[in-house]
This record gives sequence, structure tokens and C-alpha cells, in this order.
Amino acid sequence: MSVPFIDFTEQNKLIRAQVDAGLNSVIEKASFIMGPDVKKFEDEFAAYCGVKYAVGVNSGTDALYLALAGLGVGPGDEVILPTYTFIATALCASYTGAQVKFVDIEEASYNMDPAKLEKVITKKTKVIIPVHLYGQMANMDEILAVANKHGIAVLEDSCQAHGTRYKGHRSGSMGIGGCFSFYPTKGLGGWGDGGIVVTSDEKLAHMVQMLRDYGRTDRYAHKFKGHNSRLDTLQAVVLSAKLPHLDKWNEMRKVVAGFYAKHLAGLPVILPKGQADREHVYQTYAIRLKDRARVMDNLKAKGITALIHYPIPIHLQEAYVDAGFKQGDFPVSEKICDEILSLPMFPHMTEAQVIEVAQALKESF
Ligand SMILES: Cc1ncc(COP(=O)(O)O)c(C=O)c1O
Repeated sequence: MSVPFIDFTEQNKLIRAQVDAGLNSVIEKASFIMGPDVKKFEDEFAAYCGVKYAVGVNSGTDALYLALAGLGVGPGDEVILPTYTFIATALCASYTGAQVKFVDIEEASYNMDPAKLEKVITKKTKVIIPVHLYGQMANMDEILAVANKHGIAVLEDSCQAHGTRYKGHRSGSMGIGGCFSFYPTKGLGGWGDGGIVVTSDEKLAHMVQMLRDYGRTDRYAHKFKGHNSRLDTLQAVVLSAKLPHLDKWNEMRKVVAGFYAKHLAGLPVILPKGQADREHVYQTYAIRLKDRARVMDNLKAKGITALIHYPIPIHLQEAYVDAGFKQGDFPVSEKICDEILSLPMFPHMTEAQVIEVAQALKESF
């Protein structure tokens, strides 16, 4: 039996009737740009995250970029982020003209290591971006303590962490703002690109509202050189239909992670570690192992898709060669890049499918 990496067929069946009705209504109203459906979803998502404002934009990348721009980040500033993340986290800082500064990660959680943060801070540091990787939040208390000591804003990259909590606080609600992607494979994914900035800071919300809409203050009055980066109305309809199911789907992911823990026990792999003070919702189920290439080939031969998130840390990417880093600068991230492997994971994955993956892994060893 082949096992797909992700399969949202069951999710889509659940919401299909509501989405069809919502899309028809948008078509009949011909209200394709912004309008009530986008506002409705923004309000629902803000309430879900426990913040005052949510501003829909067209991707997670733009959510991060527009939030940084809204915070006034620009040339001459520095933005700190982990080197072990998807490249968009760094790109958004680069788009502003700021200098990107990297921090290594904790080996247990794969998130930004707060112990290594302070020595990267300079007078130019404007924002720190912790990334909540794979569905588990970074160590926000320690990161916020360092940031507050130096008067630096913390912007959460929540693009892989929809609905997950740290000491009861939802992802995106602890920093000055949180940025989400609604790329289709995310915990809350659209049927196309989308993103959102959440915040309780009125000024930041207002800035992002203007920046996503040509810097507009009135129909043809423009305060800034803004962008066209609005959340598509049709995506807002899909996301509104999915949001009420998100907590349940996150619980289902935890059950699947439990199946993995049971069936991978005893194999020479390192399983993802939950932490007592925060949830792990397993947006990605990433294990670590030696001899990854051979294992991947064996899984592929059995029709099981496994992926690598991420094979190259950002400081060693060709795109960041100008930053002047070399192999060995961030040893934990580099080691994890060599060993990490993401296994199939989606809320409706069955125990039989997990057993299939586990069996194929066993045979690989
Ligand atoms: C950690 C992280 N940051 C940013 C992004 C960018 O989001 P998008 O693909 O919606 O632009 C992603 C998406 O893959 C991500 O995983």
C-alpha cells in the first residue's frame, strides 16, 4: 500500500458543501476583492488567536514582509532569525533592505536557541523572528525576556504553527505580531496561496492594512509605496469553512503522532519531542536518522513519500552567500539538516498507514 505525504480528501469532503455555497454567494455578489467574506475570516481568525486584529494578505511570505515593513524595518537595520527554517523567513527581511543575522537552534526542539540569541544582538537589531517549526512553538518566555531587555520587537513566524499553544497562548499572539501562511499543505490551508498578520497592536494592524493595499488611505490617496497583497476572497471562504475544524484536526494529528511513537519504538531513529509547557500539533512529523538517502530510496520504492525539511540551512544557501557564512558556523542546524526526514502526516492518516510506513522503515534498517 502506498502512503501519500499528505492527503486532505477527507477534510475537503467535510467542508465542500459550505465552500460551494460560499463561493456561489461571492460569484453572485461579484465581490471578488476584499469585501465581507475577507473581513469575516479576519475577525474569526483574530478571535481564534486571541488577538485584536488580523489582516489578510496573499502569502505567508508577504505577511512577514509587510509586518516587518509595518514595524519600520529598513536599510541599516538587522533582523535576527534561525538559520534552520524555510528560506521565506530570511527573504522577507532581505526584501526590506535590512541585514539578516542568524542564530542556531536547540537540538531537542529544532527551534531558535534563546541561549545563543543575546550575542547576536547589536544596536542595529530591530526585530527578532522566532520560527515555530513543525507545529511547536519556540521558547517564547526566554526569547521575549532577551528581546524586552534590549527593547527589540519579536515577530512570530507562525507559518507552520496554526492553533498550537505555548503555556496557553496561541501561536502568533505572544509577540508584537504573528504571521501565518495558508499554503494548501499547512495545518490551516487554503485552496491556493494566502497569509495573514495577527496582532493586538493597532498601529501595526493599520500599517499592514495600508501596505497590503497600495499604501492607500482613500481610493486614490496613497500614503506609502504599498503593495497589492490582499487575501483572495475565494480563499477566505475556504478558510472560514475550515477554521472551526482546526482544533479537532490538530488533535487528530497528535493521535497519528502517537501511532508513530508506538510503531517506530525500538528503531534507530530520533522521534520529535514534545515539551511539557507547550503543544506540538505535528504540522510536520520529522524524525532523525543516519544513512537517510538509502532509507528514502527504500521508502520511495514502496510508494511512501518522505521529504526533507530542510536539507540546507539558510546561511549555506547560495542566495545568502553575500552574508559571508561558512560550514561550521551553526553546527546544530547543519547536523540536523543532514539527519532530518519528514514522514507522511495528515489528520485523517490511519493507523494502518502508519504501520505501513513503520514497516518500510524497519525493512530499511
Ligand atoms: C516557516 C515558514 N515561513 C514562511 C513561509 C512562507 O509562506 P508562503 O509559502 O505562504 O509564502 C513558510 C511556508 O512554507 C514557512 O514554512
